Amino acid sequence: MSGVEVSAIGKGYSGLRVLDDVNAHFEQGRFTSLLGPSGSGKTTLLRIIGGFVAPDSGRVRIGGVDVTGEALWRRNIGMVFQSYALFPHMTVAENVAYGLNRKGIRGAAASREVARVLDLVHLTGFDARRPKQLSGGQQQRVALARAIVTKPRVLLLDEPLSALDRRLRQEMQIELRRIQRESGLTTIFVTHDQEEALTLSDRVAILDKGRIVQEGVPVDIYERPTTLFAATFLGDANLFKGVVNDGAVDAAGTTLRTATALPASGQTVTLAVRPEKITLGSEDTPADATNNHVMAVLREVIYAGATSTFLLQGEDGTELKVFSQNRDVTLPLPGMRLRLSWSPAHTVLLTD
Ligand SMILES: Nc1ncnc2c1ncn2[C@@H]1O[C@H](COP(=O)(O)OP(=O)(O)OP(=O)(O)O)[C@@H](O)[C@H]1O
Ligand SMILES: [Mg+2]
Repeated sequence: MSGVEVSAIGKGYSGLRVLDDVNAHFEQGRFTSLLGPSGSGKTTLLRIIGGFVAPDSGRVRIGGVDVTGEALWRRNIGMVFQSYALFPHMTVAENVAYGLNRKGIRGAAASREVARVLDLVHLTGFDARRPKQLSGGQQQRVALARAIVTKPRVLLLDEPLSALDRRLRQEMQIELRRIQRESGLTTIFVTHDQEEALTLSDRVAILDKGRIVQEGVPVDIYERPTTLFAATFLGDANLFKGVVNDGAVDAAGTTLRTATALPASGQTVTLAVRPEKITLGSEDTPADATNNHVMAVLREVIYAGATSTFLLQGEDGTELKVFSQNRDVTLPLPGMRLRLSWSPAHTVLLTD
């Protein structure tokens, strides 16, 4: 199998399990984000793939070849670390040439490669500067150039944008994506920023407490989360806990339908609905039979110009959240009783 494959990876530190039976395939030439909260094991998994850390169990394969026992320098991996340490006493060109020199590439051949990657990261002309004479974003691009100059088989990026301010971060996201497309590198990008993962990636893998709980293209991961963790970590979700009754779910004082198959009657299940899927209507608008409906009292309106967030309380006390675009200038007022409507197709069954 091409790309990077990890199977049954386990890792613990002094009795504490950090990674537990991690299985994943990071496809050749794709940009995959590894998304998870702090401490979920993202850096550890990346370091195992890179060969900086040995797993307690399991295998790592790159391009179909088992590299689990292979030394770090033989794996030909480019890595940008969480704290991107450039060598402060070296110029930009020397920093980038470092990996080439270690491989015995020097002189004109090295200069050519350095020029090639500096052009790729849009830093031509910065060769003679030292890291402290660069902005944060420029330093980050040098770190990236340094990681890709040796034409690695895999590029591992550990939260490379986390030190940058919001604006620079957005610029660098676009740059990173362009550089990845132009270089065609198989890239694994660690982040705990949900939006960043959705925006940048061909695929997203969600790590929770040392396990990959879901993996897929961004739209599937967001629209069809399979676990409570995936539903709530990747964006907001309204949750309805109820009991299956003849192909529907009795929850929130009403009956909710899903587009997917449900377990047998009598089983307790949790359904998730993204806040932007819900339409608000006045309580006396006729209920459209094809949709799911819940009555709720509006508690708070958070107006943000283009959009508003509505916080509501269902009749059984459930906290609900609705996002909507401000097409109308008159917003409903707190205290009003409203009808929430959404399609069964947006009513997702969680499986844990
Ligand atoms: N060398 C180590 N020795 C002992 N414990 C470690 C070591 N490295 C990591 N850990 C522990 O392993 C767990 C996972 O750490 P890891 O760095 O992989 O998390 P992470 O998902 O990258 O988190 P963050 O988003 O904060 O960077 C943490 O509980 C951490 O304290
Ligand atoms: Mg980390």
